[in-house]
Amino acid sequence: MNKENTALKETPNDHPIIDNIKDRWSPRVFADMPVSQTDLQSMFEAGRWAASSNNFQPWNIVWGIKGSETYDRIMNHLVEFNQSWATNAPVLMLGVINTKTPDGKENYHALHDLGQFTANMAIQAHSMGIAIHQMAGVNFESAKEDFGFPEEYHVATAITAGYYGGNDNDLNDDLQKEESALRKRKKQDEFLFNGDFIERESL
Ligand SMILES: Cc1cc2nc3c(=O)[nH]c(=O)nc-3n(C[C@H](O)[C@H](O)[C@H](O)COP(=O)(O)O)c2cc1C
Repeated sequence: MNKENTALKETPNDHPIIDNIKDRWSPRVFADMPVSQTDLQSMFEAGRWAASSNNFQPWNIVWGIKGSETYDRIMNHLVEFNQSWATNAPVLMLGVINTKTPDGKENYHALHDLGQFTANMAIQAHSMGIAIHQMAGVNFESAKEDFGFPEEYHVATAITAGYYGGNDNDLNDDLQKEESALRKRKKQDEFLFNGDFIERESL
């Protein structure tokens, strides 16, 4: 755990928030340092204690450490763009949901709950100096088949993890620019409605 090495990016927050949320971001380079299984277990434990609809806990995580067969198999399913930088990461994961409730109905909140798992994991990881970077750019069908998930499962995301740090020169020019780009978010009044939904011109 070496939070001192965390690469900080400016976060222009409009209201006070805790540091572990404010300072978390999604890098595409990572320190040349392995993430231990103990660290990973703490990250997964934080995810495990996320809230979920009916406490169904529909999340499933496939994880692999660089150098392992599982890492290479996950890498094979990333879209080319993500492969170009994810190779910098010492850990790769797949975030997978069970789309059915235990009694076989559609679980419309499964994706939401995987998001909560992942957010918990991201904040725990950040507190340990570890960054995660989520990816929608994964071939969900081939990954599902390769890892033997049954029909009702869906591979929603891939995720990299590694200690903050690393060298931007490991990225192409465009990604180097993104790595140092300012963090941006919508303003609160663009998504908050203390009453009826009102379409915002600016969106
Ligand atoms: C569900 C999800 C899918 C994402 N997919 C990708 C992706 O395929 N490739 C990528 O480089 N970044 C991806 N991102 C990262 C986002 O672009 C990033 O989180 C966003 O720009 C905000 O930046 P921050 O996480 O540094 O605050 C994804 C993030 C999430 C939550």
